Amino acid sequence: MGQCHSCGEWNTFTEEIVQSSEEKRTSKKSIWNEQNGSASKAVPLASIEASSTKRSLTGDTEFDRVLGGGIVPGALILIGGQPGIGKSTLMLQIAVRQSKNILYVSGEESAEQIKMRADRVEGYSGDCLILTETKVEQILNQAKSIKPDFLVIDSIQTLVSMHIDSIAGSISQIKECAASLQRFAKESNIPVFIIGHINKEGSIAGPKILEHIVDTVLQFEGDRNYTYRILRTLKNRFGSTDELGIYQMETKGLKPVHNPSELLLSQKDEDLSGSAVAATIEGLRPMLIETQGLVSKAVYGNPQRSATGFDLRRLNMLLAVLEKRCGFPLGNFDVFLNIAGGIRVVDPAIDLAIISSIISSFQDVAIPADVCFAGEVGLSGEIRAVNRIEQRVQEADRLGFKQIFVSSFNTKGLDLSRFKIRVRSISKIEDLYEGLFV
Ligand code: TYD
Ligand code: MG
Repeated sequence: MGQCHSCGEWNTFTEEIVQSSEEKRTSKKSIWNEQNGSASKAVPLASIEASSTKRSLTGDTEFDRVLGGGIVPGALILIGGQPGIGKSTLMLQIAVRQSKNILYVSGEESAEQIKMRADRVEGYSGDCLILTETKVEQILNQAKSIKPDFLVIDSIQTLVSMHIDSIAGSISQIKECAASLQRFAKESNIPVFIIGHINKEGSIAGPKILEHIVDTVLQFEGDRNYTYRILRTLKNRFGSTDELGIYQMETKGLKPVHNPSELLLSQKDEDLSGSAVAATIEGLRPMLIETQGLVSKAVYGNPQRSATGFDLRRLNMLLAVLEKRCGFPLGNFDVFLNIAGGIRVVDPAIDLAIISSIISSFQDVAIPADVCFAGEVGLSGEIRAVNRIEQRVQEADRLGFKQIFVSSFNTKGLDLSRFKIRVRSISKIEDLYEGLFV
């Protein structure tokens, strides 16, 4: 069909083949008549032994932490990310750096290409098994005979199942292959890592439709033009989703970053307006990040707003608050916002630094390099409390900052005598403005 009769668009139909297997047809009979001998039985919770859930470590401290302390046997783990971000590099370096029996299956690269990549990463030992195959049945047959310590599939979009006629990467193929891998993982107790590509919007049929099937979803993100990569847990049946790993892409593979603040702040110039440092918490770790704002007179009718590493809608909201509370006529100005290092920040405590960088650029007055910020901005211009304030203040203090602006709700009950840094509590945007620029 060329045109959709519901929305009127042309050529928007995609083919999805529904397989009517023998199995499905027989299951139409009433459930009361079903005599499936191999059905599993209900057992009391207390009688189940949990001794088998011993986690194994991969040797990569960031990766183990993100997984919640190592790999759980039989876990199905999805690693999603944009093409070229480093998913294959990450999994290959984990696979080749340990002397375990690991099966790395690639449908994207030839064995020679994988070898070339492996030669690049440091600490490479030759024990990992490489299989270039795309048929999921073949892969699982091999895996059953090899019995690896874990299995890596690169990537789910290249796999095909013989039971489905549609092309690799289609929704039905992805679902069928993932279901086979899940059955394999649960029955054999061998952990399976699945790499999946997502597009820029992060929503293409691929990893998103797998999220409910897998036990853990890790997202590998970052800007390809920068070297930092963040590994976030979006879902974890066996651990917290608060953890996060930071890597740096180097010529010898991905290197874990243990002190992100120091790297992200090193390029701060003292006397430029439009820059402010935020004391954020990513995962469970404090991280000081520079935010940069640029406010310039709009030349064309519609003022532009653009944000890199930050939600554009939230930026628009902050601009509206600034306009309403401080009377800045930002409606006539273009506003650009950038988070240094190509890192995407979700912590609301970055609001205060963003507002400060915008005011600083608007007024063309630089903020001293030893000042930082941690606070969320509400719709009426109030500065709201943020979590883990002590950790933020401590990190800022450790890095030699002299002042930190926080919400007055945060300073109640906070023991400040431990810190050298001056903690300035404010309750409204107006206080920030007066404290900084007047
Ligand atoms: P890759 O792992 O192929 O990405 P994905 O599997 O997510 O598509 O990422 C490859 C990029 O990383 C590529 O642009 C080259 C770069 N790279 C390095 O900078 N250093 C290295 O040691 C390796 C192996 C790759
Ligand atoms: Mg790849």
